Amino acid sequence: MGRVRVDRVSKAFEIDGRSVQAIQDVSLTLEEGEFGALIGPSGCGKSTLLRMVADILQPTLGRISIGDAPPERVRREHGIGFIFQDPSLLPWRTALENVRLPLEVARGKGRVADATPLELLELVGLGGFEHARPAQLSGGMQQRCAIARSLALKPKVLLLDEPFGALDEITRHRMNLELLRIWAQTKITALMVTHSIQEAVFMADKIFVLAARPGRLVDTVTVDLARPRRMSQMNEPAFIEAVKRVRAGLFHDQTEAFDYG
Ligand SMILES: Nc1ncnc2c1ncn2[C@@H]1O[C@H](COP(=O)(O)OP(=O)(O)OP(=O)(O)O)[C@@H](O)[C@H]1O
Ligand SMILES: [Mg+2]
Repeated sequence: MGRVRVDRVSKAFEIDGRSVQAIQDVSLTLEEGEFGALIGPSGCGKSTLLRMVADILQPTLGRISIGDAPPERVRREHGIGFIFQDPSLLPWRTALENVRLPLEVARGKGRVADATPLELLELVGLGGFEHARPAQLSGGMQQRCAIARSLALKPKVLLLDEPFGALDEITRHRMNLELLRIWAQTKITALMVTHSIQEAVFMADKIFVLAARPGRLVDTVTVDLARPRRMSQMNEPAFIEAVKRVRAGLFHDQTEAFDYG
């Protein structure tokens, strides 16, 4: 149902009359209910790849499927939840009205979540703030509201592009724990872009390591750590091993590593 398959996908952009290969021949599989992380240097095509899975962009070559369907169909059926780096809530609507928005837009199409918009706000820890407007919420609260909104139509996959990138480390860790709790509760397939190796290992079952110019997959790291995840696991050998392996993938080419440092 929510299995994500990317099969030999390439994406080229035209910039100033020349072709830029953003993604080259990437294949990956994320099983239903798994948590995946996409990591790689700036400009390696993480957002491009995520946007192709979300059907915001189309591949130049290759195929993507969610379950057995192309992303285009899943998107039309409101089966894709997408969280941008910036929460993008409607400022004139309250938190609750923002969460209700997808239901109004879908007008009976798409699978409605088992939880009501109010319950979704409670799920993301915003109980009591349903009548607040975005400007009255902190950045982290706004992003949690955006997550609640993305769950209103019971998507098959949740795609997150550096959702907590703008937050300080402590808040970010707390948000990550919340996100894992929501993910476990909804059993949704999740794919998250991050720049942090530690964060990728802490969150994911599978980490897809990308390199830049052209954007390509250099390693897939499976994280074998018990769930629910706890901060204390960051000291376990399995955690440290996974961090080392992701780092080795990211810095496989030293000159490239210094390029973007
Ligand atoms: N709409 C677009 N038009 C033209 N080129 C684009 C477009 N979007 C992305 N690119 C190019 O594709 C490449 C990958 O960009 P992308 O935004 O996917 O990188 P990223 O890995 O998400 O980087 P970051 O970590 O900085 O967010 C870059 O070279 C960028 O210039
Ligand atoms: Mg990006």
